[in-house]
Amino acid sequence: MKPSKASRNRSVELNNLDRQRLRSRLISISELSTNPAIGTIQADSLAISALLPDRFVDLLILDPPYNLSKNFNGLRFERRSVEAYTAWLEAAIVAFKPLLKPTASLYICGDWLSSASIYTVASAHFTVHNRITWEREKGRGAKANWKNSSEDIWFCTVSNQYTFNLDAVKLRRRVLAPYRTIDKTPKDWEVTEQGNFRDTHPSNFWSDITIPFWSMPENTEHPTQKSEKLIAKLILASSNPGDFVFDPFVGSGTTSVVAKKLDRRYLGIDFNEEYCLLTERRLELAENDRRIQGWSNGVFWERNTLAAQQKFH
Ligand SMILES: C[S@@+](CC[C@H](N)C(=O)[O-])C[C@H]1O[C@@H](n2cnc3c(N)ncnc32)[C@H](O)[C@@H]1O
Repeated sequence: MKPSKASRNRSVELNNLDRQRLRSRLISISELSTNPAIGTIQADSLAISALLPDRFVDLLILDPPYNLSKNFNGLRFERRSVEAYTAWLEAAIVAFKPLLKPTASLYICGDWLSSASIYTVASAHFTVHNRITWEREKGRGAKANWKNSSEDIWFCTVSNQYTFNLDAVKLRRRVLAPYRTIDKTPKDWEVTEQGNFRDTHPSNFWSDITIPFWSMPENTEHPTQKSEKLIAKLILASSNPGDFVFDPFVGSGTTSVVAKKLDRRYLGIDFNEEYCLLTERRLELAENDRRIQGWSNGVFWERNTLAAQQKFH
């Protein structure tokens, strides 16, 4: 049975001793130099972007407050008109654009309403390649509307020279109708003891990723935490080991944690101290646990295949 909200144990929690210890790990603004710092900064990322080095970012992950009213640990973001949200997003892009290498990629997350602004702003500054639709399932039912249970992730690049590691993000699926060639060999699929599987090209519709549920080890109290599996797809596709991944709205730290697990460098910024400390706690835990749920042995699996994943190799 699912425990009540009050009695749930979050997998990543902070006590006062943790807070004290982790505070000293945050990067102070006075330490910033021309060398990009690895870690977490507590600040308004738009306000301090000018203090960061030019052209240090290989991959920018932008998961900003959406055009919704939301309370981020006491700091509220209010839903506004499309025009006003577009202007806010434009200011963010103008602040972060000088930090991007000419070969950089960026992903911008939003719900359907925020997407109206994202395309306008992104297409004015970058090449927009795609809009990924993520079926996140969970959402509040509405009495006279469709339940809002998907989000968009816009894929953009600074130029036409960019990284895209297709093989790193193929999805392993069960083959339901195994087709054999005339000589009876499997066509593009593999026979294993666990069943028949095919590694398929990743599409722009993602239905294999949940939000981080209360029972998952990565779960924190952050209200809009992304799952590690989702961020891992972005990082594996659009960066290489050693590259610099930047997230100026890092929240509970998912981008930095996944970047660390995948041997990328990372910088995360959030203006909420509690979220910066959660990020640091998760980075600490990642030192001894590099697992990413839903990605094993270098392969993304479709959902409900855990038993097969465990036996596969
Ligand atoms: C959508 S959440 C990001 C969630 C994150 N991807 C995760 O997995 O936890 C947006 C975050 O941006 C932070 N934020 C909003 N405006 C900011 C600003 N100007 N500078 C820094 N952080 C900001 C909020 O505190 C919030 O944690």
